[in-house]
Amino acid sequence: MRLSIKMYLIIFISASVILYQYHLSNAWLISQTSTQDFRVLNAKNSEKIRNVTTPFNASSISNTNTSYPNTTALCFQPKNKDIDLPPLYIITPTYRRPEQLAELTRLSHTLMLVKNIFWVVIEDAVRKTQLVTELLEKTGLKYEHLIAPMPEQYKKKKKGPKPRGVSNRNRGLKWIRDNAKNGVLYFADDDNTYDLQLFDEIRYTKRVSMFPVGLITKLGVSSPIVKNGVFSGFYDGWMAGRKFPVDMAGFAVSVRFLLKRPKALMPFKPGFEEDGFLKSLEPFEPQDIELLASNCTKILVWHTQTKKNEPSQPLDFAKYNNTNLVMLKQILV
Ligand code: UGA
Ligand code: MN
Repeated sequence: MRLSIKMYLIIFISASVILYQYHLSNAWLISQTSTQDFRVLNAKNSEKIRNVTTPFNASSISNTNTSYPNTTALCFQPKNKDIDLPPLYIITPTYRRPEQLAELTRLSHTLMLVKNIFWVVIEDAVRKTQLVTELLEKTGLKYEHLIAPMPEQYKKKKKGPKPRGVSNRNRGLKWIRDNAKNGVLYFADDDNTYDLQLFDEIRYTKRVSMFPVGLITKLGVSSPIVKNGVFSGFYDGWMAGRKFPVDMAGFAVSVRFLLKRPKALMPFKPGFEEDGFLKSLEPFEPQDIELLASNCTKILVWHTQTKKNEPSQPLDFAKYNNTNLVMLKQILV
């Protein structure tokens, strides 16, 4: 009889110990899972997103009557360390069409993740579009909203390509001359796709930096050619005798460098806008280009359009062996 009481006691104590351990291990598992979830968030990005979202929360508490929180005053006041960063001036031409707000929304969300940025948005229109103004206001970004319609002579043109976004970009350049002193300018069309890394890299441009642009022509990419770490030409599907056969999204310019060249402007010459502008930066030669994106082996910006792109053509490996193009080709579809 005494023995069975002892046995019951031992079984009871063992069961209690097992249950207690099970409880402990569950608690441990839960804490591990949440730690892991947290770790999954890229620390850098979550900090950026916090920077973006915190002011919205703050203002929506203090300003409950408006449908959109009035964010201008509170948003993006840069932290002290951000003020030290050279400012980035993003010049974006845009025009009224069904995709406009979608394109600008997407681009604005990219720019909201970039520090010390100033967005110069210029509409090809005779008056500012209210919806664009509202969109810009909503972002909380530092911005300037301007207009610069395409001259009538080009607008009326029935045949052939038009100089798209040229009057807008020249207006943006004028704004830079009137308002900026240092930092870097970049022409960011509203329909492209930008990797955040691009903004980190172009921010330190001394004169003119260049880098590959994906989804350009049938080659799939437009890029300076780099051989043994040195610039050795351009790879572009449309050379057309251009001195700088590059895309608008493939270069950035130091503001100080631009200010020293008061005549630099973009020509109303379809297909030759980039070349004309870069040539107007003289004295400036292709050898002076600062090569970014890991010596042009990475694609950090894509010329996305609302159409399907064909796979890139095969690379002439005999011709481009030992160049960056071999690595670029591995990225392409
Ligand atoms: C390509 C280049 O990427 C452009 O930078 C260049 O200006 C253009 O070719 C050209 O050479 O004409 P693409 O994608 O073909 O650009 O042109 P879009 O994206 O249609 O236009 C370029 C920029 O200008 C966009 O930001 C667009 O919003 C703006 N745009 C376009 C206008 O402001 N007005 C227009 O009538 C058309
Ligand atoms: Mn485009």
